[in-house]
Amino acid sequence: MRVLGIESSCDETAAALVTESGQVLADVVASQVAMHGPYGGIVPELASRAHMQAIIPVIREALSKAPGGLDGVDAIAVTQGPGLVGSLLVGVQVAKALAWSIGKPLVGVNHLDGHLLAVYLRRPEEDSADEGPAMPFVGLLVSGGHTALYRVEGAGDIALLAQTRDDAAGEAFDKAAKLLGLGYPGGPVIDRLASRGNADAVSFPLPMASRKTLEFSFSGLKTALARHVQKHGVPGDEQELADLCASYQGVIVESLVRKAVLACKNQGLNRLVISGGVAANRGLRARAKEACDANGLALFVPPPVSCTDNAAMIAMAAAQRLVAGERDDLSFAVYSRDPDRRRGKFRRDGSLVERT
Ligand code: KG4
Ligand code: ZN
Repeated sequence: MRVLGIESSCDETAAALVTESGQVLADVVASQVAMHGPYGGIVPELASRAHMQAIIPVIREALSKAPGGLDGVDAIAVTQGPGLVGSLLVGVQVAKALAWSIGKPLVGVNHLDGHLLAVYLRRPEEDSADEGPAMPFVGLLVSGGHTALYRVEGAGDIALLAQTRDDAAGEAFDKAAKLLGLGYPGGPVIDRLASRGNADAVSFPLPMASRKTLEFSFSGLKTALARHVQKHGVPGDEQELADLCASYQGVIVESLVRKAVLACKNQGLNRLVISGGVAANRGLRARAKEACDANGLALFVPPPVSCTDNAAMIAMAAAQRLVAGERDDLSFAVYSRDPDRRRGKFRRDGSLVERT
């Protein structure tokens, strides 16, 4: 089965062709980063318009990369939410029209499920025979809009364990970069600077340090950085700036890794998947590997290209449902927020103890 995935939830217009086993045949992403950069964040109306301009050329390009083009497509998957409504509408409407016109099944996908299941994608440039983690696993999803821990039992059975009380980790990177005048998006530039800096140079408080909670919080850290900058100014010296970035990134990474390891222990699971845009962060990847090795956990992190927004992960998340013969009614609507998920305390066998 060949699935055409379409993604337009935020500021990337993307289309991909993926087989049900996760082989990526085509993966095209048109980024709007340069357009939003001067505003220091995404401007929703500009994003919607840019999606409208890009969506057909992006789908065409993806289809041109595999023999058969549209005729070779067996099903269509599209991001239904969460995301910016005006952005989502573009992808969903195009996907519906395409599915209707070629008479193939359509599946609406939760963007966050896509991130969590991106670990099963197999790209031609990878020569790994690794099949990806057996389920269930603990998934740490770290993106620009979400930071949360999940128990992933199956493609259609993903339970929320805990999430951030305020900002997402990606937001913490983006807001810090804005404050330091480093542009948008902040993650990649802070990642680069941090790799040359000393993480012990500036001391920031570790958020939610108690082992009693799996929740995250990054707004206090952002305030601590703002206070530091108020007091000392934005470092003019390149090394000092790198040190400040390394210290700030170090605390975010430490908080993410500690909670992820704690979640694995609480769940009695020894497989951890980290995904979402922030999982491209080299500091996070290195620290997570170290912590997993020390705690006997197997770590799975998709390559950076699968971590940031893409349509291959959307096709992947839909594939299992499609193989089971599922399809969505063409009248489904988009959603801006993550819908309620099964949540609460879980027994080690995955059964739910209580709702919170
Ligand atoms: O998953 P994603 O592409 O889009 C959302 O669904 O939000 O994540 C975007 C976020 C942005 O906040 C960006 O700054 C962050 O991922 N990001 C990074 C890195 N690359 C992207 N954060 C830290 N280090 C990186 N290398
Ligand atoms: Zn995303």
